[in-house]
Amino acid sequence: GTVLGIEGTAWNLSAAIVNENDVVAEVTHTYVPPIGGIHPREAAQHHARFASHVIGKLLEEGSKKGVSISMIDGIAFSQGPGLGACLRTVATASRALSLSLGLPLIGVNHCLAHIEVGRWKTPARDPVTLYVSGANSQVLAYKMGKYRVFGETLDIGLGNALDKFARSAGLTHPGGPKIEELARKAKNYIPMPYVVKGMDLSFSGLSTAATDALGRASLEDVCYSFQETAFSMVVEVTERALAHTGKHEVLLAGGVGANTRLREMLKIMCEERGANFYVPEKRFMGDNGAMIAYLGLLMLNSGDILSVEKSHVNPNFRPDSVDVTWINEKDL
Ligand code: ATP
Ligand code: FE2
Repeated sequence: GTVLGIEGTAWNLSAAIVNENDVVAEVTHTYVPPIGGIHPREAAQHHARFASHVIGKLLEEGSKKGVSISMIDGIAFSQGPGLGACLRTVATASRALSLSLGLPLIGVNHCLAHIEVGRWKTPARDPVTLYVSGANSQVLAYKMGKYRVFGETLDIGLGNALDKFARSAGLTHPGGPKIEELARKAKNYIPMPYVVKGMDLSFSGLSTAATDALGRASLEDVCYSFQETAFSMVVEVTERALAHTGKHEVLLAGGVGANTRLREMLKIMCEERGANFYVPEKRFMGDNGAMIAYLGLLMLNSGDILSVEKSHVNPNFRPDSVDVTWINEKDL
């Protein structure tokens, strides 16, 4: 089969055509806020403005690769979680495509798409996934028909915590890569609030504490201490999920996964536990249309489609609310 999928939960508008073999084509247009963080309404306006351009260009690239519009079997879109205004814009475009082409509509959970593209593009089969992006921070694993959330942030995502601190330190958005760079030049570790409650995480206090520490410590040391603390927290929860589930693989997903220090800490933990650690290629780590199209394809193949009437978006769409129709337990 062949599916066209559209991602647009936040600032990235990205559409792709995939089939079982590979990504045929992908076109991305990113909303860059003039200053500060994401303004949801402006990001949605960006998506509305560029949707037809992105899809037109995608169809053109697809036909250059030998996949014409008539070969597409379904239209997938990210149904949530994400910013309501952005989700609605992408859903509207997807419904229009589905109706005008007479193709089934597939509503994809964004978090699960991150996991499935990782299972597709790495050797991971049945991993514990650490998904850390701007808005999301979750530890997930498959168990009896669902992806369970073993731990998650109780307030803001790790990426947003980094970005918020970065802004307060006068660094430009996105802050994550700049913090990583500065942390390399640090000399001292400054104690920071390490907040793991059961299996859940909290980053909001850490972000504030890092801002407060700027008065007494160098920016480099604060960046380093923030990273060491936050990454130790997510590694601890990932390790406990591994122990609890008895699984032997860890998959990293989300934009924060670009961080070299986070990867190193996860790798060490996995080596100590005899688990395999998988990191997809960068293009499949952050938000991308290919992951939505790919999970859309898996869902289409298992008959998991939506009627237009039931295609409303869900800004709080929980990955553990989805019946995983596309995995056969005995294949894992
Ligand atoms: P989602 O809608 O899934 O929350 P997103 O819009 O936040 O996604 P992503 O590309 O998944 O998009 O993640 C962006 C986040 O990743 C930003 O918060 C950014 O600061 C962070 N990030 C990017 N590179 C690094 C890095 N090297 N180290 C730490 N954080 C990083
Ligand atoms: Fe994401």
